[in-house]
Amino acid sequence: MPEEDQSVLQIQGRTSLKGQVTISGAKNSALAIMAGALLCPEDCRLRNIPSLVDVARMSQVLSALGVKIRRQDNILDVNASSIGKSKAPYEVVSQLRASFFVIGPLLARLGVARVPLPGGCAIGARPVDLHVRGLQALGAEVRIEHGIVHAYVHGSGGRLKGAKIYLDYPSVGATETLMMAATLADGETIIENAAQEPEVVDLANFCRAMGAKIKGAGTNAIAISGVERLHSVDYQIIPDRIEAGTFLVAGAITHSELVLSPVIPDHLTPVIAKLKTIGNRVIHEGGNCLRIVPGELRGTDIETLPYPGFPTDMQAQFMALLTLAEGDSVITETVFENRMRHVAELSRMGADIRIKGQNAIVRGVPLLSGAPVVATDLRASAALVLAGLAAEGTTTIQGLHHLDRGYENLEDKLRRLGAKIQRLTSDPQKENLASAEATKVTKNNGFQAPSL
Ligand code: UD1
Repeated sequence: MPEEDQSVLQIQGRTSLKGQVTISGAKNSALAIMAGALLCPEDCRLRNIPSLVDVARMSQVLSALGVKIRRQDNILDVNASSIGKSKAPYEVVSQLRASFFVIGPLLARLGVARVPLPGGCAIGARPVDLHVRGLQALGAEVRIEHGIVHAYVHGSGGRLKGAKIYLDYPSVGATETLMMAATLADGETIIENAAQEPEVVDLANFCRAMGAKIKGAGTNAIAISGVERLHSVDYQIIPDRIEAGTFLVAGAITHSELVLSPVIPDHLTPVIAKLKTIGNRVIHEGGNCLRIVPGELRGTDIETLPYPGFPTDMQAQFMALLTLAEGDSVITETVFENRMRHVAELSRMGADIRIKGQNAIVRGVPLLSGAPVVATDLRASAALVLAGLAAEGTTTIQGLHHLDRGYENLEDKLRRLGAKIQRLTSDPQKENLASAEATKVTKNNGFQAPSL
């Protein structure tokens, strides 16, 4: 078991934010594209890779397979010319669902892959049946034994065979796994009811930059014409639309005008539309820049859906926002079955929320009040940070290992905008890492606190 991080975030709420924030590379693109680098027997240079725990875990999986990885700032050099092992390590796969996605490229390159089942996680059971059935359709024999998925290609020189695959649900991960597997298969593959998320398109663009033949990524039917070999690439990943969305909500919830760049506004269409309905203005300032101009907040209904619907990864942050909106809102979570655990924590801060099945009924309150709360998953932790920024008094958030999985330097970025936020850690060495600019150290509740 990994050592639990004992750090907490302490936020003094009701401070206005101001300024410009830089959006990092997309976590979900980075993870899929790192897996995709396994397809390439030559050098891959990946740019704009965020520094995150999830990215470090994916690097560990690739290293364990024998891939050479070097990181310098936000550039990751990956060389998978020789893949020494076909089995991914359980200790890491169990902590990072996305590392299961290596099964597609491994199988395509080696004709064999053994990857532990990722297991359940805080937001739901998240099975991999769609990945498995798709690989079987591509000609792989797949067995699950003792918690490990064993996949082999018999005959045809270990090469997968193109096929027509219909996904029962447009799963992001299954679309990515199968698209990667099909790039090196013999013949044409069509994935129907494919996921259309921007990260799927980014992965397709990355594969195409290596010589793969892929059409239709970003629509619900992707056609892949297998090639024998891919070649070296230098590729920059897209900005993180969920991080951008989180900062837009930070502006709205603190009534602050913020400018974000770089962003691809088209990737944020459902998020921007809801922010406008709730009473804010979101202005595209040309190129890759967005400005949020906050307004009076009013309630609205939200239903999470596969892209281009409203993203489940923004549900918790919008719930934090709607707790302070005038009137009632209904939030319906359709993508994951257990993604409302932040409700109990937001309620501790004075929010009025009731859960009925997959719906949360949010009655707006005039003010939240700071409280000690626990982050239950990645986006829930972002929601608590947002609530803490708006709340009266002090909010202390535990469970920061969730936040560190997916947000690069969140507290530094917020601090630069004027937020009163600090990480308190009982480990002085970690504290130095967490808050490099800390100049003064004071004692606080047994934690070592850098000055605000
Ligand atoms: C990806 C994102 C995650 C996001 C999610 C939905 C990455 C690394 N993570 O996760 O941030 O919240 O998309 O946008 O990209 N399902 C099955 N069988 C399968 C696969 C999925 O039943 O074989 C179900 C899942 O349990 C879930 C739903 O489909 O209920 C959506 O999952 P999926 O789109 O696969 O999400 P991930 O790829 O895991």
